[in-house]
Amino acid sequence: MSEKENLNNSKRDLLKAGSMLAAGFFLGSNNSLKAESAVKPLNSKDFSPLVSRPPKGMSSRQINEHLGLYRKYVAALNKVNETEKKAGITHDTLINKGFAYGGTILHELYFGNLTFNPTDLNYRSELMKAIEKEFGAYEGLVNNFKEAGKAARGWVILGLNLYDGRLNIYGLDSHNEGTALAFIWPVLVMDVYEHAYMIDHGTNKEAYIDGFMQNIDWSIAEARFLQGFKNINNATLII
Ligand SMILES: [Fe+2]
Repeated sequence: MSEKENLNNSKRDLLKAGSMLAAGFFLGSNNSLKAESAVKPLNSKDFSPLVSRPPKGMSSRQINEHLGLYRKYVAALNKVNETEKKAGITHDTLINKGFAYGGTILHELYFGNLTFNPTDLNYRSELMKAIEKEFGAYEGLVNNFKEAGKAARGWVILGLNLYDGRLNIYGLDSHNEGTALAFIWPVLVMDVYEHAYMIDHGTNKEAYIDGFMQNIDWSIAEARFLQGFKNINNATLII
């Protein structure tokens, strides 16, 4: 199997997992998902094709070190879930669980929308229509996303707001800080922690952000957007 096929399979797994999570979140009735996650520890996803063929402007070492950090979040998540199962829920487990979940899922979304073979955003896609509605044009999104990247300390998320149905940009200063995680369906995720670019760019965050914007797999962002769109149409948040 080629590297590109490997990466695409990995991305398809992520999209499938995202659908399952969404179904459980919105409908609260996915008992099979709950039962499965109760007995099985999570495995880290395979993003190794990004190491052998890193996105333009990123080094294999940068990606490899970053993936090592991601795997630590998966391990931390499994550990805290195990602790809760054995010893019950405490304030510490709740905080640690939120941090580890954020560190796991956000990294998967980030690596999932990074590619060595970037695609253009389809100008006729539903995502493009939403971008034009909220930001005027694709360039408006790019400018705002870059500014958000400079301002945020942890993560920048282009996401579909499940409360008002609008596409918007959100920032997190940490994996578990910010209400965005609770009501945003992620479409495009950018890691702006220093560990994401220090090896390649030192403290030049702007150079990293410029490079990131040229290495996006927009087909993944479009697919995520459609997923969120579908869930909003099929279920309503109960207020
Ligand atoms: Fe990171």
